[in-house]
Amino acid sequence: MTLYLTTPIFYVNAQPHLGHAYTAVVADAASRFARLDGREAFLQTGTDEHGDKIVQAAAAAGVDVRAYVDEISARFRAAWPLLQVEPDNFVRTTDPAHVAVVQQILQKVYDQDDIYFSDYAGLYCKGCERFLTEKELVEGKCPDHLTPPEKVAEQNYFFRMGRYQQWLIDYIKANPDFITPERYRNEVLSFLSEPLEDLCISRPVSRLHWGIPLPFDQRFVTYVWFDALINYVSGIGYPDGPDFPRLWAGAEHLIAKDILKPHAIFWPTMLKAMGLAPYRRLHVHGYWNVNETKMSKSIGNVIRPEEMVADFGADSVRYFLLREMSFGLDSSYSPEAMLARRNSDLANDLGNLFSRSLTMVKNFAGGRIPAPGPLNPDDQALADASLAMLGDYRDKMRAWAFRQALEAVWEVVGRANRYIVSNAPWELAKDPGQEQRLATVLNTLLESLRCITCALQPVMPTAAGKMAASLGLEPAVRLADQEHWSLLAPGSPIQLGENLFPRIKGKK
Ligand code: ME8
Ligand code: MG
Repeated sequence: MTLYLTTPIFYVNAQPHLGHAYTAVVADAASRFARLDGREAFLQTGTDEHGDKIVQAAAAAGVDVRAYVDEISARFRAAWPLLQVEPDNFVRTTDPAHVAVVQQILQKVYDQDDIYFSDYAGLYCKGCERFLTEKELVEGKCPDHLTPPEKVAEQNYFFRMGRYQQWLIDYIKANPDFITPERYRNEVLSFLSEPLEDLCISRPVSRLHWGIPLPFDQRFVTYVWFDALINYVSGIGYPDGPDFPRLWAGAEHLIAKDILKPHAIFWPTMLKAMGLAPYRRLHVHGYWNVNETKMSKSIGNVIRPEEMVADFGADSVRYFLLREMSFGLDSSYSPEAMLARRNSDLANDLGNLFSRSLTMVKNFAGGRIPAPGPLNPDDQALADASLAMLGDYRDKMRAWAFRQALEAVWEVVGRANRYIVSNAPWELAKDPGQEQRLATVLNTLLESLRCITCALQPVMPTAAGKMAASLGLEPAVRLADQEHWSLLAPGSPIQLGENLFPRIKGKK
């Protein structure tokens, strides 16, 4: 089944930062992995451009809203290639095609009496762009934005979300993988144990003009979440596009925990009302802090992806993000942690393994892949560990356990480094009687490097491409085809190539 994977569409009230970069990198690595694992994949991202927050941000910048959203949306679009993130589609909620689909869905849901008009008074958080319940407040404030919500009382349109509450509870209980990791599934079920209020889906134009007009009442625009969530279907040609059925059948959403409620509650009930099957899975990740502190503009500790890439390169940033955070839990960024991963895991462990091995092939085997003799138990152990690693890596990647997948790879990196030390090819090279033994050791190392390279492709596409080229290979197309030993052709040339991960000195 094709994987149709989405990121949140990011608000254009701020520029891309570390948190957005993490989501984008995870999504990109997961789609690259799916392809390597033999599936088709389609990755969609984009920008969320309507609502109060955006109007305020444009006003603060002193720019016309339209010009403002164009500029910030373009910055998001430009950030992803820097990180080697290659989406197949980029949706903007101001795209006329998206606007038309939102209006069509509103009309359909209205016509079937799932939307009604009523009075409402509630507590609105502009940061969240949603009404909060009393229970969600901490000391009278929104726990995410640390600001008191505004009291809003007005007439609005409401989506009969409550109608679908029991259906949603039953669905989540019957489908344990629908929301993962499990802690977030439990959070949603606990939220659903209280009666669900209907969802206010309009804003009077008198208060907010920057939105999609309701097709059945021009005095109102659409609530930004009702608008934004629909990107997941408008972007792939809902309702009649030729790719829509195939892609929707494989829909998986990736988000952080901050927007669990709209994705786990609003969206499935909206889909139910629209007559569409629920998405297949919701993957929820944790939050990045910086030096154990919340990242925020006011603290001035916002980390920008362009700067990380300029300092460390896209491959190292991607590796760091996937290796450092346990998917689903919070993590803390620091320049020191980034530098440590770069110098220890990448420069010392992986980079040295590669350059040492290839240099020995150049010096002791004429720069060609040597033909192996029979494997002794030590060779066999590295061979077995390398192939087992590919299987283990596949299972971990399929389970979105990126950190553990990379740990499995690094275990083999460590083993291969120890194999070099214990077999001391430079000693074998001194003894003409050990020619075959030397050839076997070098061949075993190169085969292990091939397995490592394949596993790193989704994580570090550029570095893995260079590693493959050094081994005289094209990047691997299918992981399953790599799970065999002795695939390298003896006699074919290797290339030394540049130093993959030069050590980086700490900045003061
Ligand atoms: O919520 N750590 O957009 P948004 C990890 N437009 N991830 C983080 C993060 C952090 N510190 N900060 C942000 C919106 N993110 C809506 C979404 S979807 C139909 C509409 C990432 O710009 C993470 O993916 O506030 C989070 O869910 C998302 O950015 C929120 O982005
Ligand atoms: Mg946000």
